[in-house]
Amino acid sequence: MWGGRFDGGPAKIMEEFTPSIDFDQRLATQDVAGSRIHAKMLAIQGIISKIDLDAILNGLATIETELKEGRFEFKRALEDIHLNIESRLAELAGPAAGRLHTARSRNDQVATDFRLWVRAACQRAEEGLEVLQKALFKQASAHVTTIMPGFTHMQSAQPVTFAHHLLAYVEMLARDRGRFADAAKRLNECPLGSAALAGTPFDIDRDYTALGLGFARPMRNSLDGVSARDFALEYLAACTIASTHLSKLAGEIVQWCSPGFGFVRLSDQFTTGSSIMPQKRNPDAAELVRGKTGRVIGDFVALATVVKGLVLAYGTDLQEDKERVFDAADTLEISLAVMAGMFADLAVNTERMRALANAGYPTATDLADWLVREAGKPFREAHHITGTIVKRAEELGVDLDKLPLEEMQAVEPAITEAVLKCLSVEASVAARMSYGGTAPDRVREQIAFWREKLK
Ligand code: ARG
Repeated sequence: MWGGRFDGGPAKIMEEFTPSIDFDQRLATQDVAGSRIHAKMLAIQGIISKIDLDAILNGLATIETELKEGRFEFKRALEDIHLNIESRLAELAGPAAGRLHTARSRNDQVATDFRLWVRAACQRAEEGLEVLQKALFKQASAHVTTIMPGFTHMQSAQPVTFAHHLLAYVEMLARDRGRFADAAKRLNECPLGSAALAGTPFDIDRDYTALGLGFARPMRNSLDGVSARDFALEYLAACTIASTHLSKLAGEIVQWCSPGFGFVRLSDQFTTGSSIMPQKRNPDAAELVRGKTGRVIGDFVALATVVKGLVLAYGTDLQEDKERVFDAADTLEISLAVMAGMFADLAVNTERMRALANAGYPTATDLADWLVREAGKPFREAHHITGTIVKRAEELGVDLDKLPLEEMQAVEPAITEAVLKCLSVEASVAARMSYGGTAPDRVREQIAFWREKLK
């Protein structure tokens, strides 16, 4: 491919080491699209003839069909997707194919292809996130009054509603969607026409190619055009953050379906058995989603490490960008789909949630709040009094709302019968009416908000 400058060929081992075609063939459609618009621009600008343009476009159409039908033959000897397509075009279009690379380099070509690919991946990620949001929302809307224990430090803290808990994830995923949307918007500038690094003496029209590929504008600086990979990093960062949310949610599922919790039961579709223990129903899908988060984080770190030491402009190090992005995209997309599937037919054990919501004196704060509100105690004192009462309840082995009034009054005479109304988990949940709180009336407002948003 390199022609005149070389007498010999590359070392045998280089044929294994340098080609990227095994993975960058995933840029094939983007490469054809970029070549098509570039060729049209060259013809409009009078840089190539109309006859050559027709030959190139016909050749590219054939290549597109071959790709679609899986008939295109990728060759490692041709290194990468750009040279594979150019070489096939030469077979189909003859000498005209040789004119396509005028005013273009593989450096701006790959940067353009890759931006197009990542832009589409941002779109897919957003769609996948929305599907999962909808699955979570559906469960949430069925469980506005289902009470479960809320935890801090993994200790029973205060009761919450299951809908409230699920909607917390709907919020996280909404921000994830926002990150992908932002990334797609910021990356939407076209490097094509940056050529190798310095631009080109040919009178090209970069606005034409940029707009033709759906970009908002051409990139302003050719050095930046060929070397920038922050768009890929930003995509990977968004994947990383979204994956941490999936991992957290997956971890909850693993807990929730363990016998100690027994909050949910996964359908057979998303459970596997053990090869030795016949009783087992393992939440493998959730565990794998949690585990695969490690890959996605690794993808981000790997690419950040590649680009951190590079000077301007292009270096072949950048060839390492694609596999990380492809891997993160594949991993995130299938994880989102699996999680959505898992939530679609998740069975919720509301009695079990309710029973555990009562354990561990989760309404102690309600008692302290009552002492502040009704007995005028400073919160710190109320906290202390309540602690003593909880200790007494523990000694007697009863829940707070079952502790006889006299026991409470022995600790704090200001306590009256009215307090008993506040100490059930239902009362506790219903009282949390502050904006963003877990009270069913508040949660219903959020359900209405998301019903509209996810329509
Ligand atoms: N395969 C290369 C990549 O993935 C394409 C650009 C190569 N450019 C070059 N001058 N070697 O980045």
